[in-house]
Amino acid sequence: MSKRLCGKTALITGASRGIGRAIADAYAAEGANLVLNARDATKLAAVAREIAQAHGVAVHTAACDVTDRDAVFAAVAALGDLPVDVLVNNAGVHMARRFLDYTFEEFRAVLETNVYGVLHITQAVLPGMIERQAGRVINLASTAGKWGSRNQSAYNASKHAVVGLTRCLGLEMAPHNILVNAICPWVVDTDMAVGFIGEHAAVNGVSPEQMLDALKGTVPIKRMVKPQEVAAVAVFLASGESSYVNGQTWAVDGGYTMI
Ligand SMILES: NC(=O)c1ccc[n+]([C@@H]2O[C@H](COP(=O)([O-])OP(=O)(O)OC[C@H]3O[C@@H](n4cnc5c(N)ncnc54)[C@H](OP(=O)(O)O)[C@@H]3O)[C@@H](O)[C@H]2O)c1
Repeated sequence: MSKRLCGKTALITGASRGIGRAIADAYAAEGANLVLNARDATKLAAVAREIAQAHGVAVHTAACDVTDRDAVFAAVAALGDLPVDVLVNNAGVHMARRFLDYTFEEFRAVLETNVYGVLHITQAVLPGMIERQAGRVINLASTAGKWGSRNQSAYNASKHAVVGLTRCLGLEMAPHNILVNAICPWVVDTDMAVGFIGEHAAVNGVSPEQMLDALKGTVPIKRMVKPQEVAAVAVFLASGESSYVNGQTWAVDGGYTMI
């Protein structure tokens, strides 16, 4: 079978580990050249080398904090003539608290990365896509972007914003042949999940193991999502196979929600 992303360049934020890393691996396996972003430049360079060696594609890095608007625009400008065909807005943070326990600074920090980070990089990349009249934007939202959850209202508010942004950009960008979709996974087996399961456990006064068991009890497929299972959907949404899919919020949740 021919590779599905040959000739494409994808910019992936938060690509040094977890879901972003899995998407980077999957895109490279499908022949895409990559621009990888995260804050830790040393770790990112090591990941870029590994992926380039494994798949024989070009892998560039653009290390910056997506909350720093000037740094984001500078990083995209530094790509010069390299066209970004696919933008994956994956960088994100989580913070579990009871609503009344969030400080304003904590609540705002979640929105700064998960919402304004997406705003900055998408505004930096879209003009090039509009000029070329082609592109794909894939936003990592969450099941938390579609429904309520206890004790993580900042995260859910941020992911609902990402879903709203996805739908609005899907409308605005379609005339430019730019398709915008979101992926909404349930709990994915990454460092972030280890962190928030521990935080939820503390809020509920149980052990992390008990918290994880309780979470698994709520989903028909009684295990966490593998990062590769999210990456497979991200490949589809970047490929020619999804040419009529736009403004969607694609659940990867094992049947946690069925509407
Ligand atoms: N894990 C889950 O259960 C789950 C479920 C649904 C949706 N999601 C969403 O999927 C995305 C990836 O999650 P994950 O579980 O893979 O997270 P993760 O394991 O914590 O990895 C996060 C990645 O983002 C980077 N990052 C964090 N803040 C950044 C910033 N301000 N600027 C640039 N890069 C930043 C991190 O690298 P540096 O620290 O070096 O910057 C890292 O590469 C997030 O948007 C998350 O909300 C996750």
